[in-house]
Amino acid sequence: MSTDSNTPEQSPAPRPSLAQLLAAKNNQTVTKSARPAAKRSAPDQETHGPRHPATAGGFARNTDRYFELKSEIHKKLIGVLDLDRVSSIPKERVRSEIGRVVERLLDDERVPMTTAEQNKIVEEVLDEVLGLGPLEPLLKEPSISDILVNSYNKVYIERMGRLQLTPVRFRDNGHLLHIIEKIVAQVGRRVDEAQPIVDARLQDGSRVNAIIPPLALDGPSLSIRRFGRHVITSEEMLANRTIMPSMLQFLAACVQAKTTILISGGTGSGKTTTLNALSRFIPGEERIITIEDTAELQLQQRHVVKFETRPANLTKEGGINQRMLVRTALRMRPDRIVVGECRGAEALDMLQAMNTGVEGSMTTIHANTPRDAFSRLEAMILMADLQIPTRVILQQLASAIKMVVQVSRLQDGSRKIINISEVIGIKEDHIEVRDVFFFERVGVNAEGKVQGRFRWSGEAPKILHRLKISGIGLPDGVFDEVLNVNL
Ligand SMILES: Nc1ncnc2c1ncn2[C@@H]1O[C@H](COP(=O)(O)OP(=O)(O)O)[C@@H](O)[C@H]1O
Ligand SMILES: [Mg+2]
Repeated sequence: MSTDSNTPEQSPAPRPSLAQLLAAKNNQTVTKSARPAAKRSAPDQETHGPRHPATAGGFARNTDRYFELKSEIHKKLIGVLDLDRVSSIPKERVRSEIGRVVERLLDDERVPMTTAEQNKIVEEVLDEVLGLGPLEPLLKEPSISDILVNSYNKVYIERMGRLQLTPVRFRDNGHLLHIIEKIVAQVGRRVDEAQPIVDARLQDGSRVNAIIPPLALDGPSLSIRRFGRHVITSEEMLANRTIMPSMLQFLAACVQAKTTILISGGTGSGKTTTLNALSRFIPGEERIITIEDTAELQLQQRHVVKFETRPANLTKEGGINQRMLVRTALRMRPDRIVVGECRGAEALDMLQAMNTGVEGSMTTIHANTPRDAFSRLEAMILMADLQIPTRVILQQLASAIKMVVQVSRLQDGSRKIINISEVIGIKEDHIEVRDVFFFERVGVNAEGKVQGRFRWSGEAPKILHRLKISGIGLPDGVFDEVLNVNL
């Protein structure tokens, strides 16, 4: 997430805007959106990523005129179309109606415009009337995984793990707020001063979080996590050196042998991505129940039942948390339970599930080292039930969880599996873990890339016994591989 601050707005434009002229001429009240807009500097082109077919236009120089024209057309449309009924009218009719209004308006004003520009305006007004305005072109691009609206004039996208600024912008804070209201109204919620944080979902399943003033200081902000976005596969993880082949073979064997695995890492380090990649090694005939706050996992197996939590509504009712879903899942005869991220009381239910037969479950946790991951889990379990003695928690954890995969986003932006650690028992007051494989850092090269090597720790893992009795073989030489990275 970028921490860019807003560029200060400059003084209002001295000339009367087109919208003002039109409003005066039509003897209409100037709507809030058609107020003389402050002169804004065109978005900074150099910082934009690759030009985006849907959003790059010939209007960058003249964005004010453009926005005013659009809001004027929008206003006129309200006069000719019943906007509440618009969604039931065939899109083609709405389009031709908008086309007519645009033509008339341009004619009246003698605004010179090419057909392509005219079509673009029609498309955008259509997006405004029928959809989510400036967000529509972004939502149509499947390669975009996240849309982050920091403020009305700063819209970022994430694509292939890279964050970039786009030329997309809203007219002003009021416009952005209007789009947010539209999103939350679709799911029967409301956003206002009393309820300034909302969690909603788009029709395509994308998850939306919005926060407005007074909590957001610089105006409303919005983030959208796309549903069905491209999730990096294990092949891609091998290709970009997140992991080396023998490590992946080892983990695949562990998953097949129903080893419970905990994936640990920081925010954005690639926990969910790794969970998704490893889940794909679960044999196809097993029944899997996934539990997430936002459905991100994309499993290919036949018997997958997907659960998602639900936040409480305005009157704090109807919330369903992960813990309730874990309990429900256990009644549904699962072979495995995959929990997107373990964050609270559900840790206890998962632990009990893992110790009573649902083996081979997987989850992720926010922690910086494998050992830290267990301290976090222990704290979560204590939160759920203070009566359980620590010793018992440690014993249950050590008997349930066999393997920890630590993922990390390194300083050069690359993601690496930096430890695959095995749980070997309890020592004094903590769970003892030992590396099977790790990424040994050596330094940083001239281009700022992290140098190092993936390698085996030299210790024969205890899990080999389990693999053997499960009849799961490991390729020869799986512990001999060493993979140099930027060396
Ligand atoms: N191994 C990887 N290589 C490249 N990009 C990755 C890798 N793992 C994750 N990413 C990217 O990083 C972002 C965050 O990944 P995610 O798995 O959601 O992280 P977390 O669950 O730890 O917050 C995603 O955009 C994802 O595509
Ligand atoms: Mg995640």
